[in-house]
Amino acid sequence: MGIFHRKEAKPELVPQEYLPRSIGIIMDGNGRWAAKRRQPRKAGHAAGARTLRRIIRYCETRGIGYVTLYAFSTENWRRPAQEVDAIMDLLRDYLREASENFRNENVVVHFIGDISRLAPDIQQMIAEAIEFTAHKTGMVVNIAVNYGGRDDVVHAVRQIAQQVKDGRIAPQDIDEEMISAHLYTAGQPDPDMILRPSGEYRLSNFLIWQAAYSELVFMDVLWPDFTEEDMERALHAYAGRQRRFGGIK
Ligand code: IPE
Ligand code: IPE
Ligand code: MG
Repeated sequence: MGIFHRKEAKPELVPQEYLPRSIGIIMDGNGRWAAKRRQPRKAGHAAGARTLRRIIRYCETRGIGYVTLYAFSTENWRRPAQEVDAIMDLLRDYLREASENFRNENVVVHFIGDISRLAPDIQQMIAEAIEFTAHKTGMVVNIAVNYGGRDDVVHAVRQIAQQVKDGRIAPQDIDEEMISAHLYTAGQPDPDMILRPSGEYRLSNFLIWQAAYSELVFMDVLWPDFTEEDMERALHAYAGRQRRFGGIK
């Protein structure tokens, strides 16, 4: 199945045992949403940020274990500075609000990507958000900012190469598990499902290593319009897949 279209009927809830444990979401279509309304692209990003808050809450109520949201890619720096700044300001708003809300919510916040390229105040707020949710026991929310799947692998390989250089490991010790353990998502399960709204059929450098056996779900709704019902439809699509991991069933 390629893309699937929204049906108007309200979907029934997928039974717990068929739900993915870990979900990746490529939050796409903000610019097109704004263009349709003759608004600046940043209005689309602001609307997308509101969807993010709703969908995180929905995933939590559905008992999802891990959700990874692609907010800004290593390639998104190619956009006009004005747009990049607007996205960074929305990230500031989110982190500011999070510093209040996360205290009361049982979610563990994590950031994936090279955050050292972000503004110092953002890095500071990220460190705080991570610190005051670290002891929580609920859903893990990974926000991918300045994230690229290839950069993720490069970053892991550099750390492993250093260990070889220091004589702590031999090249033969390097295996898939070791590489996974050095990615930004270390210690977390690979995404069972990767969801991309907006009608594009690609990963755009999102979790490329981790996505080896992810079920891909594409939907033709723009991210700012994405609803809790759309999320449930995506969960249905996932529940209907037969996963084989190279074996036979
Ligand atoms: C996704 O929406 C948000 C980011 C990449 C930051 P876009 O801004 O890519 O929206 P479209 O794809 O142009 O509609
Ligand atoms: C992917 O969307 C990145 C994020 C959603 C953060 P893009 O809009 O940047 O991807 P392309 O350029 O269409 O592949
Ligand atoms: Mg896009």
